[in-house]
Amino acid sequence: MSIQRTLVLCKPDAVQRGLVGRIVSRFEEKGLKLAGMKMLHVTADLAGKHYAEHVEKPFYGELVKFITASPVVALAIEGDNAVEVVRNLMGVTNPQKAGSGTIRGDFGLNLTMNLVHGSDSLASAQRELALFFRPDELHDYVPALRDWT
Ligand code: RTP
Ligand code: MG
Repeated sequence: MSIQRTLVLCKPDAVQRGLVGRIVSRFEEKGLKLAGMKMLHVTADLAGKHYAEHVEKPFYGELVKFITASPVVALAIEGDNAVEVVRNLMGVTNPQKAGSGTIRGDFGLNLTMNLVHGSDSLASAQRELALFFRPDELHDYVPALRDWT
């Protein structure tokens, strides 16, 4: 077992479309644990830090404009191999190519408005969680069904 924590963002399109509850349910139903959850409006400064790896990409400007356009809901998701499991539940980047049964595959059609972000490695997860959550906003507790999931 490798218990990991990873960052998920329900992006502005997910909030605007009223899909946050259904997205959170996907992670809960899988047996993953919610360790943190907050709504915030991503500032240009935070977007720049979060998406630093993409600063030279042609889509960077569009990406920052989108993620700062309206509030997001940030989740800290915990569980065995959570980084990879969350990415699999999200589906590939382009919702038109994402498999049926994934969040992007089921709810999305647009490459920029692809509903969710998930950290792509354990190192990214640790860096990104620290950007979005203070330590006291992340919660250690034992889920009642832990021994059954
Ligand atoms: P994310 O970081 O949001 O979880 O998505 P990802 O790892 O699947 O994809 P990444 O390569 O990190 O790209 C970040 C976001 O940039 C937008 N994108 N646009 N126009 C384009 O070619 C393009 N490529 C990527 C997507 O919205 C992607 O989620
Ligand atoms: Mg990424």
